[in-house]
Amino acid sequence: MNGYLKVDKDDVIAVIDERIYGSFIEQLGRAVYTGIYQPDHPSADSDGFRQDVIEAINKLNVPLIRYPGGNFLSQYRWEDGIGPKEDRPTRLDLAWREIETNQFGLHEFMKWSQKVGAKPNMAVNLGTRGIQAAADLVEYCNFPGGTYLSDLRQKYGAKQPFKIKTWCLGNEMDGPWEIGAKTASEYAHLANETAKAMRRVDDTIELVACGSSSMDNPTFGDWEETVLDECYDNIDYLSLHRYYGFYNDDDPTELDNFLGKNVDLDQFIKGVVAMCDAVKARKRSNKTINLSFDEWNVWYHSNDADTKVTPWQVGPHLLEDVYNFEDALLVGSLLITLLKNSDRVKIGCLAQLVNVIAPIMTDTNGDVWLQSIFYPFMQVSNYGTGVALTPHVDVPTYSSREFDSVPYLDTITTYSKDAHSLTIFAENKNQHEEINFKADLNNFKCDQIIEATQFYGYQPKETNKDGQMELKPLIKVKLDDNQVTAKLQPLSWNMIRISVK
Ligand code: AHR
Repeated sequence: MNGYLKVDKDDVIAVIDERIYGSFIEQLGRAVYTGIYQPDHPSADSDGFRQDVIEAINKLNVPLIRYPGGNFLSQYRWEDGIGPKEDRPTRLDLAWREIETNQFGLHEFMKWSQKVGAKPNMAVNLGTRGIQAAADLVEYCNFPGGTYLSDLRQKYGAKQPFKIKTWCLGNEMDGPWEIGAKTASEYAHLANETAKAMRRVDDTIELVACGSSSMDNPTFGDWEETVLDECYDNIDYLSLHRYYGFYNDDDPTELDNFLGKNVDLDQFIKGVVAMCDAVKARKRSNKTINLSFDEWNVWYHSNDADTKVTPWQVGPHLLEDVYNFEDALLVGSLLITLLKNSDRVKIGCLAQLVNVIAPIMTDTNGDVWLQSIFYPFMQVSNYGTGVALTPHVDVPTYSSREFDSVPYLDTITTYSKDAHSLTIFAENKNQHEEINFKADLNNFKCDQIIEATQFYGYQPKETNKDGQMELKPLIKVKLDDNQVTAKLQPLSWNMIRISVK
């Protein structure tokens, strides 16, 4: 099968906001306890942070991390996580029915996120709490000093303000599972009033309002309109969440359908952009609301196991999906979709980062191991920088149970002027045929291929539990002037990096 790509240096989708490669740590399962924080682990540093985990995260080059939830957020009192550890209360976490010891809290998160080189994306509880607790948290974090809360921060060790820029106004408040779930108008009013108060404390912050927690929620659409209508002037981003899940393994055509889920993601994004812009027009506003896709991933493998977990444990094994090769292909394709929409998607958070539906797993009494999905994410977050170029693609498409027209070749090219390089990410979704790939890179002065890799040769259901997965060299790749040719193997994820003069 032939697959043709044309890009032009001047045909730019957008400058990629590096925060599109963000991730998420929730106080859930073993994300924190025995994940990133385990004082008795041999690799723990003096703060109790696992250095083997930090090393793995560094490879992923994650610029932004959302915290502390998630569903956990909606019943959380941030004050529980500050001050001397021995004085912190142990609480019931009603979201996940766990015991929360609060041994890891705000200061620990701030210190840890610095160690992994990420900025915080902090969230305020709008489930059981509201305006005052949120404004207090901004004061505690961002006010320089001389007030009760900012002095308390100093007393507890942080002389300088944290200067947290990005804040989420609650989590999934449209979801009936959420503690303190709201109707659209209840949430819109609370979010707007909270935004106003938070901005009074610090007018440099950016705010993300909750959009729908899934496109499948019955209130999708109405929710966005109501929230945008009331909050438009006081927010900067609207959030989207999407997880892709189970399919019937006995039917081989279902893999085609699963790998086509990026089409769904694209429709979701474009739908929410349209809603933002409709409200903008109706309000005759000059302001554009961008998107924060602050939870996305594959999530289903752990569903059965999770129903059997005994409640009220500290750090239980929850949401520990073990990802396989087909999941990695879908994650790669979802990343390409985010980049294709990088004119409006400015923040993205792979949910989550460690142990909980995560690319990085820990053995409590052992080492870190990397999931299949680690590899495409690592490549895109490291090399998908600069600008995203519009992909003009000519390739056959297929139809599947849910989608009419899925291109067999999914691809995006990014160009970094600073790094003098461009990177092509290309996925072949065909289960049986290779793609004869040809790409014209117009208006570039291509120099040479720096690196070409393929993630290929694994069974769709194969996982990386034994650590055998690796990126292999893509051998049949050539650069001739500004044209690249390559053979993309059936079911493969590929990256070609080229230096430009
Ligand atoms: O990421 C796991 C959960 O998924 C989060 O807690 C919640 O926001 C979403 O439903």
